[in-house]
Amino acid sequence: MRHFLTLKDFTKEEILEMIDLGLRIKAEVKARRFTPYLEKQTLAMIFEKSSTRTRVSFETGIYQLGGMGLFLSSRDIQLGRGEPMKDTARVIGRMCDMVMIRTYSQSKLEEFARFSSVPVINGLTDEYHPVQLMADYMTMIEHGKADNPVVAYVGDGNNMAHSWLMLAAKLGFELRVATPKGYECNPDIVEDAFEIAKTSGATILFTDDPKEAVKGADVVTTDTWVSMGEEDEKEKRLRDFAGYTVDSGMMKLAKADAIFLHCLPAYRGMEVTEEVLEGPQSVVFDEAENRLHAQKGVMVWLDGKRNEA
Ligand code: CP
Ligand code: NVA
Repeated sequence: MRHFLTLKDFTKEEILEMIDLGLRIKAEVKARRFTPYLEKQTLAMIFEKSSTRTRVSFETGIYQLGGMGLFLSSRDIQLGRGEPMKDTARVIGRMCDMVMIRTYSQSKLEEFARFSSVPVINGLTDEYHPVQLMADYMTMIEHGKADNPVVAYVGDGNNMAHSWLMLAAKLGFELRVATPKGYECNPDIVEDAFEIAKTSGATILFTDDPKEAVKGADVVTTDTWVSMGEEDEKEKRLRDFAGYTVDSGMMKLAKADAIFLHCLPAYRGMEVTEEVLEGPQSVVFDEAENRLHAQKGVMVWLDGKRNEA
């Protein structure tokens, strides 16, 4: 049994296999063929933070695969009143076939997984958002940006930045990360990425100059400057991130046919302008849709049905 907690736990071949599976299931669904790969299975979905895409894509995804999703907000279940993760994990494992969790620390997620008898999927933690990156790479493939791409991430050194680091390190492409001083990526994750990059051939560059990151890039991406749980820091962050807005001037420095990605929700006028988000290079709604398809690939793969699609 495997869990899906971080891309660090998977080989390049496994990551590509899951994405390919997602693409094959996507093609079936577009032809109105719904194969019940996970018939009668239940996916428990625990949310300790808000969500639109993650909830809708997992719940719709498991339904289209012949199973059902159980939405469990920590506001309503006993976890929110202090029942330990390890007890919740053991109970859910007795009744459900798979679990997706959105929580705060990665260590809380890992604790849940240690006590879970069924596969656990990371639906976002403070450290990582790996299912988002599966959708992002699927979108890059579909837009012809998966062949030796140069990706520029501009913004906060947060869960999205860390997930890009892992994806680049595993797959072996060039990633440039521009963060303001004081908002750099977690040094442990950076060290892991550099270690993995040694064998994959990935090039990873850190800078505090967004222009340096974006110059000649195939893909430009950013994320909110104020992640869930950081609301109290909002005012300071808005000041500290001045100059990091992805605007049309910044997009002009990238390749003329570069695409713009954003995991959403986006805050117009902050990390990205309305013009870029709604502009011709933006593929953010393809990216959002691909959450549904990529995660089906992950779920079917974890269930061991990878050869049936
Ligand atoms: N991108 C993403 O995970 O969106 P939600 O927070 O809406 O799930
Ligand atoms: N970095 C953001 C991503 C939201 C999908 C957050 O953690 O809030």
